[in-house]
Order: sequence, then C-alpha cells, then structure tokens
Amino acid sequence: MMLRKLPFILLLFVAALPACTKVDMNFGGEIIDPNYTQIIKVDTFNVSMSTVYLDSFITSAKGVTLLGGYTDTAFGRIDTKCFFEVAPPAYTAVYDNTYYDSLSLILKVNHNYYGDTTKPIHIDISRVNQVIQPYQQNGLYLYNNQSFSVNPSFIGSADIMVFPYNRVDTISIRMDDNLGRQLMAKLQDATDFDMKNSTNFLNFFNGLMISSNSSSSAIFGFSDSVTMRLSYRKAGIFPNDTHVDFTLANKAHHFNNISVNRAGTPLQNLQTAREIPAVLTHNVSYSQPSSSAMIKVRFPNIRDLLNFPHYAKVLKAVLLVKPEAASFDRKLYLPPQLRLSTTNYLNLVGQDLTAISSTGSAAVQYGNLVLDYNSGNTYYTYDLSSYIKSIITDPNYNYTQSGLLLTPPSPAYETQFARLIAGSTLNPITNSQIQLQIYYATVQ
Ligand SMILES: *[C@@H]1O[C@H](CO)[C@@H](O)[C@H](O)[C@H]1NC(C)=O
Ligand SMILES: *[C@@H]1O[C@H](CO)[C@@H](O)[C@H](O)[C@H]1NC(C)=O
Ligand SMILES: *[C@@H]1O[C@H](CO)[C@@H](O)[C@H](O)[C@H]1NC(C)=O
Ligand SMILES: *[C@@H]1O[C@H](CO)[C@@H](O)[C@H](O)[C@H]1NC(C)=O
Ligand SMILES: *[C@@H]1O[C@H](CO)[C@@H](O)[C@H](O)[C@H]1NC(C)=O
Ligand SMILES: *[C@@H]1O[C@H](CO)[C@@H](O)[C@H](O)[C@H]1NC(C)=O
Ligand SMILES: *[C@@H]1O[C@H](CO)[C@@H](O)[C@H](O)[C@H]1NC(C)=O
Ligand SMILES: *[C@@H]1O[C@H](CO)[C@@H](O)[C@H](O)[C@H]1NC(C)=O
Ligand SMILES: *[C@@H]1O[C@H](CO)[C@@H](O)[C@H](O)[C@H]1NC(C)=O
Repeated sequence: MMLRKLPFILLLFVAALPACTKVDMNFGGEIIDPNYTQIIKVDTFNVSMSTVYLDSFITSAKGVTLLGGYTDTAFGRIDTKCFFEVAPPAYTAVYDNTYYDSLSLILKVNHNYYGDTTKPIHIDISRVNQVIQPYQQNGLYLYNNQSFSVNPSFIGSADIMVFPYNRVDTISIRMDDNLGRQLMAKLQDATDFDMKNSTNFLNFFNGLMISSNSSSSAIFGFSDSVTMRLSYRKAGIFPNDTHVDFTLANKAHHFNNISVNRAGTPLQNLQTAREIPAVLTHNVSYSQPSSSAMIKVRFPNIRDLLNFPHYAKVLKAVLLVKPEAASFDRKLYLPPQLRLSTTNYLNLVGQDLTAISSTGSAAVQYGNLVLDYNSGNTYYTYDLSSYIKSIITDPNYNYTQSGLLLTPPSPAYETQFARLIAGSTLNPITNSQIQLQIYYATVQ
C-alpha cells in the first residue's frame, strides 16, 4: 500500500498549483478538525471489476422504436426488432366511392443512433400472427427477450438512408398492396366486424414487427408515434386524395426485442457465466445494458483503511473510471452519462449514488465525462465520499458480494447502445486504470 503523506498546510498549498489541479481540496465544506495532523491521499485500494449478465429488462412503454443492428468486435452482433399494435380511428361510414391507392408505414426519428450511419439501413415489416400480450398472464410488461410469431413473408421492405439530424425527420416504407386492398375493402363494408372498434381490429390484425437484417451496420431510434397510412381516393365532382391513419394503439404493447450473438467475442460465455472478472477479459470490463452487459465494481479491502496508522476519518473519496485506450470513437461513442447504483449478490440495480449539487440538493451523479479523443485522457468521475464512509462502518456490508453497478440512466439503459469498455486496476495502460482515491485524516 503506497501512502502519500502530506502535511496539512503543504497540501492546501499545492492545491493552488496548476500542475495539481486534480487535487481537489474541497472536503464538502467540512471544517477540518485542527487536531488532525495530516491529510493522506491513497490511490492504491483494490477495486475489483467484472462484467455481469443482465437477465432481462422491460422494453415496453419506453417510447422508443429501435431499428437496425450492428457488429461490435467487443460486444458481438446486436439486432433489434420492434413489435407494436396499430388501430384505425373510430369507424365512420365515409368509404363509399373510394379507391385504394397505397399503404405505408411512417416512422419518426428520435435523433438517436449508434454505429456506422453512413450506410443505408435495411428495413423489413412483418405481420404478427398472435395477439401481443405481456409476459405473464395479467402482467403489465414486455421484455427485451420476448417475441411473437410473425408471418414468414414480409409485407414491406426497403433500404433507406436515415439522417437523424435532417429537417425531414420521418421515413416512409411502402407496404403490401394486397393487405392495403383488404383493409380498404373492410373499411368500405359498413358491416365489417373487425373495423368496428380497436379490440375487434387487433384480434384480426394482431400487429406489426419491424426488423432489419445482417447487412445493417447501425441502430436508429425512432419515436413510438408509428403510423400505418392507407391512402385512397374518394370519387366525386371534386375527387379527394386522402388517407386514413392506423396509429399506435397501446404503448404498453410496444416493445423492442434485442438479440445478441457474442460468439467469438471476449464475452462469449456471458449468460452461462453470470459474472466474468476483468482479469479473464484482458483486464477490462464491459457496460452496455441494452445488450445485457453491466460493469460491477467492488472494494474488497477498503476496510483495511480503518487499521492504517493514526487513521481518524475519511474526508473524501473519488472514483475515476477510465475507458480502455482506443476502445471508442465517434461511431462507437461513449455513454454521455453513467450512473453508479448500489447492488448485492443478485446484481439488481439498486439506488443511484447522489452528490450534493450546487443548489444544495442531492442529485444523481452521472460521471461528468471528460472526453478526449486525442491523447487518451478520458474518464468519468464520481464522488464516493458518503458511500465509502458508510460502507466501512456498516457491519452488514458484504465486501465480497456488494458493490456498485455502472450503467446509463433509464431510458438510455434499455433503448440506447452507447457502450463503455473500462480498464481494471491491472490494465497495462495507466490511463485506462480504474482508480479509487481516498483522502483521510490522521491524528497523532
Ligand atoms: C482536540 O483534542 C483535544 C485533546 O484530545 C480535545 O480536547 C479537543 O476537543 C479536540 N478538538 C476537537 C475540535 O475535536
Ligand atoms: C484485489 O482483489 C482481488 C480479488 O478480490 C484479489 O485477488 C487481490 O489479491 C487483491 N489485491 C490486493 C492488492 O489487495
Ligand atoms: C426472459 O428472461 C427471463 C429471466 O429474466 C426468463 O425468466 C424468461 O423465460 C425469458 N423469456 C424468454 C422468452 O426467453
Ligand atoms: C428475442 O430476443 C431473444 C434474446 O434476447 C431471442 O432469443 C429471441 O429469439 C428473439 N426473438 C426474435 C423474434 O428475434
Ligand atoms: C367492439 O365491437 C363488438 C361488436 O361490434 C362489441 O361486441 C364489443 O363490445 C366492442 N368492444 C369494445 C371495447 O367497444
Ligand atoms: C439484407 O437486405 C439486403 C438489402 O435488401 C439484401 O441485399 C441482403 O441479401 C439481405 N441480407 C440477408 C442476410 O438477408
Ligand atoms: C377529403 O377527405 C378527408 C377525409 O374524409 C376530409 O377530412 C377532407 O375534408 C376532404 N377534403 C376535401 C377537399 O373534401
Ligand atoms: C491482466 O493482468 C494480469 C495480472 O496483472 C496479467 O498477468 C495479464 O497479463 C494481464 N492481461 C492483459 C491482457 O493485460
Ligand atoms: C456474502 O454473501 C455471500 C452470498 O450471499 C455469502 O455466501 C457470504 O457468506 C457473505 N459474506 C459475509 C461476510 O456476509
């Protein structure tokens, strides 16, 4: 254990030097007891790091339609499919003298994307042939690992360039005319049972699935305002070219299936192995909950601090999380926000760590990412002062099992793909090593 003994007065002094700007001597506004003889900084505590498997997560009612897939040498091939229901407006008998024109699906971009967006994305539309229902009978949610059966032939396909930041922010995909004509005929028949209300319609139509194929190299986010538009002409003295929109009927039945093929990647055993220590994956760990990987950190020997010579109290603790050098770029960008949440042996996401914000209230910490594409000095920082102070005195804290999970906040957690590959303390590159810095006071 390397200790840096610095006299209190000297430490205050060096804090003013530009070269030491990272030595932040604000101990939360706390008045330093004059009896403390020294403030010591230790940054050699063991931070054990691993990748844990995220069983399943709710993707329904998140307001995001995912479309596409991409291949990541670290995380594997990731593909998304979105299932949803559309229903017509309340029926009115206005369809006499009408002629079918076309059927199309309209999606609205939500400005989120991951991967190589310079290539067109392939889109396939399928008709679901089961009623979309939550996971358990009387359940409320649909999960990332769920799916419903679909008719084998596509009812719409396209290859489209998506420009997430263009002014035109919708894409439209032509759909099968046979289906379009069938729907038109049903609307024209004022006695048609299926068109009476959305319950009847959904029992007949079930829903849609949009998917991509292995030629895609990006995932795009769209909103959940998905519209199936039936365009038709109403004949008359003044022919009227108009349309009827089938809109998203039930947000709770709109969900994304996310599948991952990790064959040949460092994480290929994840899932069978519920947890993989960083030392088995080249001294890095992986966070991308949307593909079921989360980083867990533990502080197995933090209690040793209590036995350090003349130890009095922890003043401050800071965790620096550093991406592995060259593990990210502008296409495979880092999560702009990552939170740390408490967890135990179950690896469920618990409480998010907070810090006192400038307004004086507790705010969730998102890591204040410092991004540096050039010289590799990129890191997230967390104030762990309260957390470390509480665990070292908590008799029930399980040092071998409990810890912190590093994940983006929801809904990025379930609907975005920005990922982090972070170095452990054993990573050969110093700039990639996770580091816990503790400042503590001693008394003679
Ligand atoms: C400093 O130590 C003295 C002697 O042990 C004690 O009486 C005094 O209360 C301490 N001061 C503070 C601020 O704790
Ligand atoms: C750090 O923790 C790991 C896992 O608990 C352990 O194998 C290793 O010996 C520890 N290293 C130090 C320096 O305490
Ligand atoms: C989804 O994962 C859960 C575990 O979280 C499991 O119980 C369930 O059977 C899985 N569902 C499917 C369709 O694989
Ligand atoms: C949905 O995802 C799971 C894995 O998360 C996969 O096993 C299943 O086949 C997927 N369903 C479809 C239709 O891709
Ligand atoms: C829908 O219409 C059918 C028959 O027209 C009727 O029996 C049913 O109660 C209606 N359902 C709703 C929810 O309105
Ligand atoms: C995916 O779609 C593209 C474009 O339509 C097509 O050329 C390619 O063959 C498809 N790939 C697979 C694996 O189906
Ligand atoms: C065309 O039809 C639509 C839908 O019925 C209606 O709202 C619109 O007013 C009509 N336009 C004209 C010019 O008649
Ligand atoms: C990971 O760390 C261990 C322990 O220091 C070392 O033996 C091993 O070579 C490292 N592996 C890589 C790929 O850096
Ligand atoms: C920590 O938790 C594990 C798993 O629940 C248990 O086996 C172990 O005994 C616990 N250790 C302590 C010190 O409580």
